[in-house]
Amino acid sequence: MAIRVVVNGAKGNMGRQVVAAVQADAALKLVGQTDLGDDLAATLRSAQAQVAIDFTAPAAAFANASIIVAAGVHPVVGTTGFTPEEVARLQAQCRERKLGGVIAPNFALGALLMMRFAAEAAKLLPHVEIIELHHDGKAEAPSGTAIATAERIAAARPQRPAPKVESKELQPGARGARGYAVPIHSVRLPGHVAHQEVILGGLGETLRIRHDTVSRESFMPGVLLAVKKVVSATELFYGLEPLLFDGSDTPA
Ligand SMILES: NC(=O)c1ccc[n+]([C@@H]2O[C@H](COP(=O)([O-])OP(=O)(O)OC[C@H]3O[C@@H](n4cnc5c(N)ncnc54)[C@H](O)[C@@H]3O)[C@@H](O)[C@H]2O)c1
Repeated sequence: MAIRVVVNGAKGNMGRQVVAAVQADAALKLVGQTDLGDDLAATLRSAQAQVAIDFTAPAAAFANASIIVAAGVHPVVGTTGFTPEEVARLQAQCRERKLGGVIAPNFALGALLMMRFAAEAAKLLPHVEIIELHHDGKAEAPSGTAIATAERIAAARPQRPAPKVESKELQPGARGARGYAVPIHSVRLPGHVAHQEVILGGLGETLRIRHDTVSRESFMPGVLLAVKKVVSATELFYGLEPLLFDGSDTPA
């Protein structure tokens, strides 16, 4: 039996891609599409949805996820903007209902692997810097993925290595954003989508781990995988990793 899926935010950039990806997957059945102004709760009910995929807007993220969970439908949420408290509230509601779901800041499988490899590499090569490159329409810097990568590295490496010399910036920012565990350099230029390079320096050697997103299609395999996994899960995960890697193999 195909899994019955509703896509919320179906008219958006991500939503349109998700609609096409669900329609192309024989294991899934698209039973509803909603966007701003539609009654999500009523659609979930009338379509007898099992999974709701949400790519809408940060301001609507929590309200939409709450509607999905209250309807007893498995949420697969890519919308950004949740506070940790909101995630915890939704996780508690899902635990009570034994409802599986996922809120994932990044559905690109290659990006998740890049973060995982970077954290692993930093255990042996603790001197690390990140360069992230995005299109010039991206308002905030650094990217959420770069910050998450820095956090993973900080958790994995034994300690932050002391710099050989304390470099004096002739212009503030010359050494990148320095408030994170590793310096992050943000590039904003036309011609880019979303890219990141983690550079690890060792004695006489350099390791570069690079991920390039060239189109929004990159998120679709992760979204489809999540839909298939959440129907048999009994809790709400934050991040896709627990659905990709088993417990003995969780990311650093
Ligand atoms: N997790 C990931 O991997 C990932 C990847 C790409 C984008 N995103 C996030 O997904 C979200 C959507 O991105 P996008 O590029 O598709 O944006 P978009 O603006 O192109 O599309 C958003 C759609 O949601 C609709 N919408 C807004 N508020 C709504 C509401 N309350 N109820 C129903 N529909 C509503 C809009 O009308 C629009 O059609 C953003 O938060 C973005 O950061 C996440």
